[in-house]
Amino acid sequence: MFPAERPRRLRRTAALRRLVAETTLTPDDMVAPLFVAESLREPRPIASMPGQSQHTTASLHAEVRALHQCGVGGVILFGVPSEKDDVGSGAYDPEGIVQLALRSLRDEFGDDVVLMADLCLDEYTSHGHCGIVRADGTVDNDATLELYGRTAVAQAGAGAAVVAPSGMMDGQVGAIRAALDGSGFEETVILAYAAKYASGLYGPFRDAVEVEIADGGDRRAYQQDSRNRREALREARADVEQGADIVMVKPAMTYLDVVADLRRELDVPICAYHVSGEYAMVKAAAANGWIDGAAVALEQLTAIRRAGADFVLTYFAREVAEELGR
Ligand code: PBG
Repeated sequence: MFPAERPRRLRRTAALRRLVAETTLTPDDMVAPLFVAESLREPRPIASMPGQSQHTTASLHAEVRALHQCGVGGVILFGVPSEKDDVGSGAYDPEGIVQLALRSLRDEFGDDVVLMADLCLDEYTSHGHCGIVRADGTVDNDATLELYGRTAVAQAGAGAAVVAPSGMMDGQVGAIRAALDGSGFEETVILAYAAKYASGLYGPFRDAVEVEIADGGDRRAYQQDSRNRREALREARADVEQGADIVMVKPAMTYLDVVADLRRELDVPICAYHVSGEYAMVKAAAANGWIDGAAVALEQLTAIRRAGADFVLTYFAREVAEELGR
């Protein structure tokens, strides 16, 4: 007999499919991560992330202008300093590279583009860890918090509307909220990298920011273990209690269950970071002619939205926004 249910009816035309689509992806839902390097004369392409570069202040402005024109919701800045030290001073120096870039973008774009700053020490430390390292090689949680507070205040003072702590220290959100409030930055938003996993997918990013962790070390003593799911919810709840306005899951594709959990259990906005390795895999396969890169990028970003993310941090932001605008 013929089936009574005929789901294909609603798939017959593109217009019908658009009408009944459960998930949307628009440029507003995307944030572009951008790298700005100190004392660079020309933008420097990042080999493992085709289409992405370390920017000069001038090329950064041009990129943000293009992103703004195609409607991308925001940008998040990462700094590449020319000097690093063991306490990551460049992160909280009012004249540090990200602070200079923020001030300059703020002058041009005001509040038209959401300006975010990644808040961490790893790009600025000589040992590549996200915090202060003790003599025995372990990361000192509480000593690091004080520097995160100073970094938040420097970034907010330079014009960041959103600071995004990514170091995975315990209590970082509370410490940063207190530091911001104590300096008159009550309105600065905290986007917490709440469920950030120790992942093999950050490889290209570490090339992009020229970070190498000393002595072949890793971040497993502070980033989450990919075998754990409940733990992500516990940490995200703790971040919200400490004052996080938005929480993030990172990476995205391998943690969509976590995105769905946080969506169901929390009522703050949720985002996910489609990270450098996820971008590089799509680019590499597409360059070999093995997949249609644009189609896969759109499918992945849509899946992240479908799982429950309100927005996505993605290196595909400009490419996909331009495609959506056509
Ligand atoms: C840490 C930080 C990292 C990324 C964003 N913030 C790297 C890490 O934890 O080692 C990775 C982003 C990406 O891979 O795209 N400051």
